[in-house]
Amino acid sequence: MRVVIGVSGGSGAPIAVKLLGYLKDHETHLVISDSGKKVLLQETGLKPEDVYTSATYHYDDSDISERISSGSFIFDVCVIVPCSMSSLAKISAGISDSLITRVAAVSLKERRKLILVPRETPLSTIALENMLHLSRNGAIIAPIMPGFYNNPKSVDDIVSFTASRIMDLMGIPNDISKRWRED
Ligand SMILES: Cc1cc2nc3c(=O)[nH]c(=O)nc-3n(C[C@H](O)[C@H](O)[C@H](O)COP(=O)(O)O)c2cc1C
Repeated sequence: MRVVIGVSGGSGAPIAVKLLGYLKDHETHLVISDSGKKVLLQETGLKPEDVYTSATYHYDDSDISERISSGSFIFDVCVIVPCSMSSLAKISAGISDSLITRVAAVSLKERRKLILVPRETPLSTIALENMLHLSRNGAIIAPIMPGFYNNPKSVDDIVSFTASRIMDLMGIPNDISKRWRED
């Protein structure tokens, strides 16, 4: 599978790192925003270079001329994880002033799968309306909302659970997290 992964400046960078690790057998195209780099360092201690090694290709978020910016670049799914309220608002409004927001706009116009993984609490009415608007326009809104029914024992369990649910949405079979009443 050919996957574009955008990492913006919402909280939840460990989930992006975990997901990239799970996608080793796939062709991954990674973009980390400037804010995403700051949050990545804060939450994982990792620099972008440490994470780029897990991706097949990586790009600068400010370089709008990269090949993934064009609708002619075919990919299977675009995941923005975490997706900040700022990026979410831009995508909802059709603003494409960075590579991440541009690829999201391309996903919508080309009717390709777009998975947005926002994290914020509480949610303003503006954020809720943006999510509803995006959902109505074909995006999948998959907030970072851990389940507790599988009795997580650690933060890593919660991170793995969230990454595995994203894999489910991408259509990638996995048995990373225990499923309800499946042994
Ligand atoms: C440590 C840290 C945590 C943040 N967490 C969130 C968050 O959970 N959700 C969010 O929407 N923004 C969060 N932000 C703010 C975004 O990084 C900020 O709005 C930024 O402009 C987003 O830009 P981007 O979408 O281009 O990455 C956080 C910022 C920092 C420094």
